[in-house]
Amino acid sequence: MALHRLISVTIGVPNVDETRSYYAEFGLTPEADGWFSTRDGGRQLRIVEAPMRRAVELRIGADDADDLDRIANNLRGLGIEAVRSPGSITAVEPVTGVRAIVTSGEHVVLLEVPATPYNGPGRYERVGTRAPGVVRADPIRPRKLGHVVLGSTDIAVTESFFITGLGLKVSDRIKDAGAFLRCSTDHHNVLVLAAPVGFLHHTSWQVDDIDEVGRGATRMLEADPTRHIWGLGRHHAGSNFFWYLKDPAGNFSEYYSDLDCIIDDQLWTPETFEGARGLFNWGPPPPPSFLAPEDLGALMSGAHSVG
Ligand SMILES: [Fe+2]
Repeated sequence: MALHRLISVTIGVPNVDETRSYYAEFGLTPEADGWFSTRDGGRQLRIVEAPMRRAVELRIGADDADDLDRIANNLRGLGIEAVRSPGSITAVEPVTGVRAIVTSGEHVVLLEVPATPYNGPGRYERVGTRAPGVVRADPIRPRKLGHVVLGSTDIAVTESFFITGLGLKVSDRIKDAGAFLRCSTDHHNVLVLAAPVGFLHHTSWQVDDIDEVGRGATRMLEADPTRHIWGLGRHHAGSNFFWYLKDPAGNFSEYYSDLDCIIDDQLWTPETFEGARGLFNWGPPPPPSFLAPEDLGALMSGAHSVG
């Protein structure tokens, strides 16, 4: 695969200090320069100042310079200007204004974490001990950035930027509402979602298993119950367990585990989901504020006054 990794996301917010504290509590490790690191993925989140909350930048890893040349050609074909440097190519997605930087190299090998033993009917993977999920006491520290979800007022244009321009692949679609795109073996790294304004819907962070999804969210809610958005549940597209929380700027952040993995493109059949299936398989029903965050009106009027 030419693209191999979602490297990082930069989020602009008006309340930088408060938002940085939230992500430290969420389990990311703050660096001195405004970046945050995950346990396995390195520097993967940057919080910067912006008048309204928004996705500012995505960095994506490609294999080599040939990939960057091909992306330059593809973007040119779409009429999108790009800046090419020896190790990267930078272009701005025209609808959302998100800057995408594709860099070559920077392969990261994720460490294999031993599977948590779960007992099943007639299948004892754990005998004579309590479940790790109930005895763990250490704070949750996400392994890596999994995906970024972008609201777009023109999903056809935003999708063509990522698919035709950068070379992301389609894993599944939500009928008339969006596309799950991958730049790695993860089911999705970018989800483009139809919205009345361009905005950052959520970022998603991988933890080891469902216990860590539950434990992480529970701790965040013990500190502030108003952070709760939606969970615990399991998505249908991507299959992952999820729990969504809200940061102090209004962006959602998700703990996830057990996402579908696509290694051989030939063995995966993309589907188009409708209605609830596009959203989830089981769990509590999503609150209306999941698809239409409460500050959407403010973001729309802000976008008009800025634009
Ligand atoms: Fe998600």
